[in-house]
Amino acid sequence: MILVTGGAGFIGANFVLDWLAGSDEPILNLDKLTYAGNMDSLAALKGDARHVFVHGDIGDSELTSALFAEHRPRAVVNFAAESHVDRSIHGPEDFIQTNVMGTMRLLQSAHAYWQALDEEAKPSFRFLHVSTDEVYGSLGPSDPAFTEDKKYEPNSPYSASKAASDHLVRAWLHTFGLPVLTTNCSNNYGPLHFPEKLIPLMIVNALTGKRLPVYGDGQRVRDWLYVKDHCSAIRRVLEAGVVGETYNVGGWNEKPNLFIVNTVCSLLDELQPRPDGKSYAEQISFVPDRPGHDRRYAIDASKIERELGWRPTETFETGIRKTVQWYLANPDWVSKVQSGAYRQWLETNYQARA
Ligand code: NAD
Ligand code: TYD
Repeated sequence: MILVTGGAGFIGANFVLDWLAGSDEPILNLDKLTYAGNMDSLAALKGDARHVFVHGDIGDSELTSALFAEHRPRAVVNFAAESHVDRSIHGPEDFIQTNVMGTMRLLQSAHAYWQALDEEAKPSFRFLHVSTDEVYGSLGPSDPAFTEDKKYEPNSPYSASKAASDHLVRAWLHTFGLPVLTTNCSNNYGPLHFPEKLIPLMIVNALTGKRLPVYGDGQRVRDWLYVKDHCSAIRRVLEAGVVGETYNVGGWNEKPNLFIVNTVCSLLDELQPRPDGKSYAEQISFVPDRPGHDRRYAIDASKIERELGWRPTETFETGIRKTVQWYLANPDWVSKVQSGAYRQWLETNYQARA
């Protein structure tokens, strides 16, 4: 089996679902169920013996050591993190705890387990760390896209904590020999995305008649990748990536935020028009910018294509349509997130045991 951490979050849940749709290899899913963890996202796996869920923290060394000893995974895919830049500005502490301390402790447990593996299992073990393009910092309008050897220049507490985790992963290879891989991916979008991030927030706010808050002038640029393409890239790197290498993952799809919001509005105008016949774009409202807001991210994903044959399958047009359609088709998931009812899993699960 493989150990996935953070598998109840946005990308992790998509990864777990896609993995088990294509393979019978079980997943041990370790997630702390912070506000971003949602067991409803994994509802389709209820009763599926291939999915073993453990509620816990990657920073709990006793727990992770026990999980390694009991389940003997052949690989770790580490998604667990605090991931929202705006939250890192208001409260950086959790980001340091999980992204830095938590990753370090998980590396320690993985290393102790790996060291004791027999000579046959040892070389094939992998620790794949899922990271972000934000570690590279901000680009000017005509700078070349980030390659894997771009200097790290993180600007937010979030990106600084992820940069630190990437360095720790690198150090655990160079100092201790742990067979690690790192992926640095651009902004993801798609089903099961918590509506505090740009695209799901715009969809959910539009449908509930709220304003669509665009930071600054809306001209900040991000590269956007459909989440299922990110998941396929991770599977490919896990299968064929060279130990110690990092791989940039992106959608070849740089767009200003305002373009993204307008695209969401036109799709909603087509698929679920406002009762008054006006465009959802009328709800757009420019709000003060995020402090330290990075101007542009762009990923050069040619290494993973050249060396591992991976390319995204969705264009932005196909991916964003699927995304909007998913939110329209899943109002229960959205309303349970909005009401906070998605967090009842903790009560239901643990009260029944008390
Ligand atoms: P998310 O915030 O939706 O999910 C994070 C998950 O990790 C949640 O289920 C949460 O409960 C869990 N978690 C948090 N702290 C934990 C801890 N201490 N122990 C165990 N579990 C914990 O995040 P996401 O968008 O799915 O991102 C997943 C990973 O991918 C992160 O490492 C993030 O930095 C990286 N990433 C995200 C994006 C993006 O656009 N969302 C892009 C590139 C890389
Ligand atoms: P976000 O989804 O938070 O991802 P990240 O900051 O990790 O790139 O934001 C994407 C972009 O959208 C970013 O430039 C900030 C901007 N943004 C808004 O304009 N309004 C919003 O309400 C949010 C959440 C983000």
